[in-house]
Amino acid sequence: MKINTNYDNVSQSYLFSTIAKKVAAYAAAHPDKKIIKLGIGDVTLPLAPAVIEALHGAVDEMGKKETFHGYGPEQGYGFLKDSIAQYYAQKGVTLASDEIFISDGAKSDIGNILDLFATDNVVLVPDPVYPVYVDTNVMAGRKIIFADATAENGFLPMPDFGVDADLIYICSPNNPTGAAYTKEQLRVWVEYAREKGAIILFDAAYECFITDDSLAQSIYQVEGAKECAIEFCSFSKIAGFTGTRCGYTVVPDAIAGGKLNHMWLRRQTTKFNGVPYIVQRGAAAVFTERGMAQIKANLAVYQSNAKRIAACMDELGVWYTGGKNSPYIWLRCPKFDKSWEFFDYLLESATVVGTPGAGFGVNGEGFFRLTAFNTPEATAEACERIKKLFS
Ligand code: MLT
Repeated sequence: MKINTNYDNVSQSYLFSTIAKKVAAYAAAHPDKKIIKLGIGDVTLPLAPAVIEALHGAVDEMGKKETFHGYGPEQGYGFLKDSIAQYYAQKGVTLASDEIFISDGAKSDIGNILDLFATDNVVLVPDPVYPVYVDTNVMAGRKIIFADATAENGFLPMPDFGVDADLIYICSPNNPTGAAYTKEQLRVWVEYAREKGAIILFDAAYECFITDDSLAQSIYQVEGAKECAIEFCSFSKIAGFTGTRCGYTVVPDAIAGGKLNHMWLRRQTTKFNGVPYIVQRGAAAVFTERGMAQIKANLAVYQSNAKRIAACMDELGVWYTGGKNSPYIWLRCPKFDKSWEFFDYLLESATVVGTPGAGFGVNGEGFFRLTAFNTPEATAEACERIKKLFS
């Protein structure tokens, strides 16, 4: 037996597991303290009533012989894929049903898609970014190069045509910085990918937070992207499905003459048996008129939390970005150079949890991420505690 020694090259624990462990240890040692979590991007509002009704309806169907569902279509039910296609049509993007694949979430697909690519591909990853892109490629032993995202380029690196890459990760709106590419900027990335014969892996998990029309909600809003980009999205952030689990991946027929679409279907039909019928019914309710209105009301709560955190940073004179088209505020650590030290200080002195920028890459050092996904009350209290600490 030979183990995959590439695992020796990933950090001992996944970023958010490390944070959860640290917070649990602190909570055990200080049972009297009220910890406010603005760390992992996990939602706090319950599922929308339209989703709950659809889930209940589907549970009832499963209890009757006439409407029971066993294995579903591996790629997802037509009713959900059609709803997703209509959602994309509103963004001016036409998708065929066989280009959409329903899954249990964007994170799994982002890791699993690597089955389709040879290990000697060179991977280009922005730094800082969602750690899953780097970790999954390190596990597979791929060579990774980085595109520096810094305050100077607004945390939106543009391609260097002098550098060759085969797989390119783009997350927009970005996790962790909240920076989002315009359609014009993404056009340059598409041009780069096409010139290099590369594939863009576009993570659109936070598209629902975009309010500015010039920003792209999907890479397919850029001409030519269907020939070089795979897009991942999720119901976690738009509809609070972090615990319910549902996402989707778009693999256009136009990439490599349909080969990648066929390979992903082959991969999924072999290794995955689909998302529960009940969950897919709940997800489809997100796109009904009622469901969307309820979901927008939930998103407005998170957007207002983001504004509150931003106002707190303004008041303290702390430099930050994000929060406008994103649920994340990305700030320069006040009074600290090392983001893990700032993490400890904030936890111990204000009992507020955030995410150290260093966990997202070298360029994240000295920065810190706060999420807007907690309740308005907890967010307000966290802001007061932070103000007390730094004013
Ligand atoms: C985060 O906090 O970065 C996200 O919640 C991670 C995820 O969506 O998997």
